[in-house]
Amino acid sequence: DAPGPLSGRHAVVTSGPTHEPIDPVRYIANRSSGKQGHAIAAALAALGCQVTLVTGPTRLTDPAGVDTIHIESAREMLAAVEAALPADIAVCAAAVADWRPAIEAGQKLKKQPGGALPPDIRLIENPDILRTISAPGPSRPALVVGFAAETEQVLDHARAKRARKGCDWIVANDVSTGTGTFGGDDNAVHLIDADGTDSWPAMTKQAVADRLARRIADHFAAPTTK
Ligand code: C5P
Repeated sequence: DAPGPLSGRHAVVTSGPTHEPIDPVRYIANRSSGKQGHAIAAALAALGCQVTLVTGPTRLTDPAGVDTIHIESAREMLAAVEAALPADIAVCAAAVADWRPAIEAGQKLKKQPGGALPPDIRLIENPDILRTISAPGPSRPALVVGFAAETEQVLDHARAKRARKGCDWIVANDVSTGTGTFGGDDNAVHLIDADGTDSWPAMTKQAVADRLARRIADHFAAPTTK
């Protein structure tokens, strides 16, 4: 690893969407590009951190110097994250599907002749990776960072999310229509920790990643402050 303030530390970063299978050829997904999570993985590596990136399907190339693990579903993401522990740092930037089809058909679903109704796809809840790894225990990373993509009451919802998930920091952003955050290059975020809220100006996702990585390095340099 490159020398730097995070030398000797290990971080696990999740990124991208998940794909939840309906049948062998179809899936449910979302519009996450993975840009923010991949940028965070690269920024941590640039500070000397050993980084394991667990990513769903994206159009991005694997960041240089980062151990990248490709998965498709939320359950695969959870298994890969747990296999990557122990870690000092976890950053959950993936847009994990909240639900998956309750039944994954073994064969491609076929249109029925004679105008039969289309299939009903029943959904069940996926594991929450951020909440799972935030739970107290011997393998809990010392610093767990989650993301909150909100379309309204961004700060209130993000503070509630931090408490509900049990993570240490939440990076909150406004993804309401017109902000261009999903798939775009820019992001305006608020960093919420136990002490309060830091609102950062709009900047590129790369700059958000660099600033977050520096903030993480500062946290480990002076663990009694933030
Ligand atoms: O609950 P919500 O999806 O808004 O929470 C977002 C945060 O939780 C993100 O950090 C996301 O990566 C994480 N998350 C997760 N597993 C899920 C759902 C969300 O890790 N199943």
